[in-house]
Amino acid sequence: MRRILSGKLHTMALFCAVSMVLGGCAKPDVEETTLSEEKLITVGFSQLGAESDWRVANTESIKNSLTRAGGFDLMFDDAQQKQDKQFHAIRNFIQQEVDCIVLAPVMETGWDTVLEEAKDAGIPVVVVDRQVNVSDTSLITAWVGSDFSREAKIACEWLKSFTEVKGIAPEDLYIVDIQGTLGATAQIGRTTGLELACEQNGWNLLAAVPADYAQTKSKEVMQNLLEQYDNINVVYCENDNEAMGAIEAIEEAGRVVGSDIAAGEILIISFDAAQSGLKLVLEGKIALDVECNPLQGEEIERLVMAVNSGAEFNKYTYVSESAFSADDTVTSVMLDDEEYQITVLTEEILRQREY
Ligand code: AHR
Repeated sequence: MRRILSGKLHTMALFCAVSMVLGGCAKPDVEETTLSEEKLITVGFSQLGAESDWRVANTESIKNSLTRAGGFDLMFDDAQQKQDKQFHAIRNFIQQEVDCIVLAPVMETGWDTVLEEAKDAGIPVVVVDRQVNVSDTSLITAWVGSDFSREAKIACEWLKSFTEVKGIAPEDLYIVDIQGTLGATAQIGRTTGLELACEQNGWNLLAAVPADYAQTKSKEVMQNLLEQYDNINVVYCENDNEAMGAIEAIEEAGRVVGSDIAAGEILIISFDAAQSGLKLVLEGKIALDVECNPLQGEEIERLVMAVNSGAEFNKYTYVSESAFSADDTVTSVMLDDEEYQITVLTEEILRQREY
């Protein structure tokens, strides 16, 4: 599926002017940037882990784009969700004098020192998926990823409209949030969006507990939540693997997942819209799945090429994302005065998806 990508345009010329002054992004030696046909662009890719179906699809997308046939020599490192391992990988890439570093960071903070080291070595850093929170934004060359706050807004606006149509009063909603890895941009955006909506709409947020985007951990978290609260009627899962774990726990506890809250069903909202999650939407077990698009490889390829060749590129790029519902109760929501369409999932749509 082709995705539309958008972002704020920065010219490479301007970027280089700034970064040269700061001792930064591009290789300073013009001769080094003049690629002969045989010269591969060496890229070190620090992926944060393999915790979810989404992450696996994201890794595949990037590996499939940065191929030897396409002119890249890719070094890949899986950090197993540990920031220390990412520091180690980046320092290794610096030692190997790669042309570019691609970083999918596990959390937002803590990157200043290691990214300073990359900058001092003249190696551009392209950040993918989550963001880094650094005091000097010239430490990163470009970023491509999702608008996680917008994803949360879509989910919460949908829940608001859905419960209004079904005649469920806001004060009768008892929500638990199974959070992602604390400190990750995806977690911050999705958790904050829900907290805000609970405040604005008068929904009850019973608990928010992290499960690191992992199915097994989410199942444990949900089992504990079911023991603590007997009135949960909405579970807001911050990714599909967490939704799968939560559903297992709910069903093992003898409860039913679905959208008939009035009849005692527990409504599940999820993020990612990977095949595994969307199958549960088709079964009516996930009521809404907001897409987090992992197919970022082509954009990363374009960026790395542009950075290397001195061509124009966007410093910040958001991938486009859809949302899928199990039924047609709500087919659009308003987002900042714009109508946003919700797709009612069908088998045909699921068949056509790439991940
Ligand atoms: O940062 C993106 C999130 O990380 C995805 O929602 C999740 O599945 C992944 O592990």
